[in-house]
Amino acid sequence: MRIAMIGTGYVGLVSGACFADFGHNVTCVDKDAEKIASLERGEIPIFEPGLDTLVETNVKAKRLDFTTDLSVSVAEADAVFIAVGTPSRRGDGHADLTYVYAAAREIARAVSGFTVVVNKSTVPVGTGDEVERVIRETNPSADVVVASNPEFLREGAAIRDFKFPDRIVIGTSDERGRKVLAEIYRPLSLNQGPLMFTARRTAELIKYAANAFLATKITFINEIADLSEKVGADVQEVARGIGLDNRIGSKFLHAGPGYGGSCFPKDTRALIKIAQDYDVQLRIVEAVLGVNDNRKRAMARKVAAAAGGSLRGKTIAVLGLTFKPDTDDMREAPSIPLVTGLLDMGAKVRAHDPAGMEQARKELPDIEYCEDPYTCAKGADAMVLVTEWVQYRAMDLERLRREMAQPVVVDLRNIYRPEEMAAHGFVYESVGRPSKGK
Ligand SMILES: NC(=O)c1ccc[n+]([C@@H]2O[C@H](COP(=O)([O-])OP(=O)(O)OC[C@H]3O[C@@H](n4cnc5c(N)ncnc54)[C@H](O)[C@@H]3O)[C@@H](O)[C@H]2O)c1
Repeated sequence: MRIAMIGTGYVGLVSGACFADFGHNVTCVDKDAEKIASLERGEIPIFEPGLDTLVETNVKAKRLDFTTDLSVSVAEADAVFIAVGTPSRRGDGHADLTYVYAAAREIARAVSGFTVVVNKSTVPVGTGDEVERVIRETNPSADVVVASNPEFLREGAAIRDFKFPDRIVIGTSDERGRKVLAEIYRPLSLNQGPLMFTARRTAELIKYAANAFLATKITFINEIADLSEKVGADVQEVARGIGLDNRIGSKFLHAGPGYGGSCFPKDTRALIKIAQDYDVQLRIVEAVLGVNDNRKRAMARKVAAAAGGSLRGKTIAVLGLTFKPDTDDMREAPSIPLVTGLLDMGAKVRAHDPAGMEQARKELPDIEYCEDPYTCAKGADAMVLVTEWVQYRAMDLERLRREMAQPVVVDLRNIYRPEEMAAHGFVYESVGRPSKGK
């Protein structure tokens, strides 16, 4: 199959490279000329484990190439995937569909012969209908089927998620469209990836419902963490105790600083807006959004309390800035409101992240960036662990304590053991577990 992937970001590049690896011929298109130039030089513009090798192998095999010119690749394609961004619209939280519709118009002008246009971007219910309308309006003779195929990959584990998915959702009632998409995903049947065919609107809603449910699970355990702290329980054991129940499941029950990232915040906001447009109130999702926003701001106060109250003139070391490990993505990372809160309270902030510092500089220009975690901790009055990169899990605790001015550690991901931290002389605060060392 010949595939054109419109948008070569986290989703487009991973999906394009994986489709090429399945044996399809893929052209990844992006209007960002710098991104395409770097990909043509063999440089990967994002940090995603394994992606460099996957891209290199498939470029060498001549199954994968890159261009800024949408028209040729679309004209030759059996399927055109739209994988452009759908950020929150400024001001109201609706999904901004400008990029999707712009791509649809360009596709309409370039398309030739029967083509399946597939929406992989996360889009509100009904966007497929509108994309179809835009294409028919722009090019009435276009022979296209518009399908929905939402993407569920997680940054940091994107290739594995794409190649071994829990499910692939394909939304189209058109038999020709189903056939093309079944053929594109056929290599995955070897990995037992279940293909679920459904209606286009249902597929669109599945993506938002999935993200809202996961955000709810995280937020639920975060509130239970707050209660655990007050009643003297350990949230990790509560999570294990409930997660072993198959009806609940153990995933997404890790208490922390609140969810962030490129998807959950914008997708929960957009789902609430979709529901409002249809006169439905999603009170659970609304509560999740509110609780999560408050939590992110509360984390700075938690650090201040651990550091003795006032942060004025104090130095705080922050380890981990990206919204999760194994990515350089800073979109809506919990570190942003945390660091901003620390600065507002008069602290000086030094930070380290294994992959995200270049991106972080754009969001957080007023802090000092350090080469390694020990340099970061030097002279600090408290250290706060925000992102659980594996590098931070086995730190030399003796050395860390020697570097710090005050041995105060706030671990927002519960990666250290309270007893061990206390034994090394730290005042140690984590999330939903009894404090140690006071
Ligand atoms: N990032 C994730 O983990 C993830 C997971 C699942 C779904 N999604 C969804 O996938 C979509 C893409 O997300 P992303 O994180 O890959 O976004 P991204 O911002 O990393 O990439 C989008 C790319 O599209 C390009 N683009 C925009 N308009 C274009 C056009 N007309 N022609 C060519 N290129 C164009 C941009 O230049 C950019 O490089 C979003 O809807 C997102 O919600 C993301």
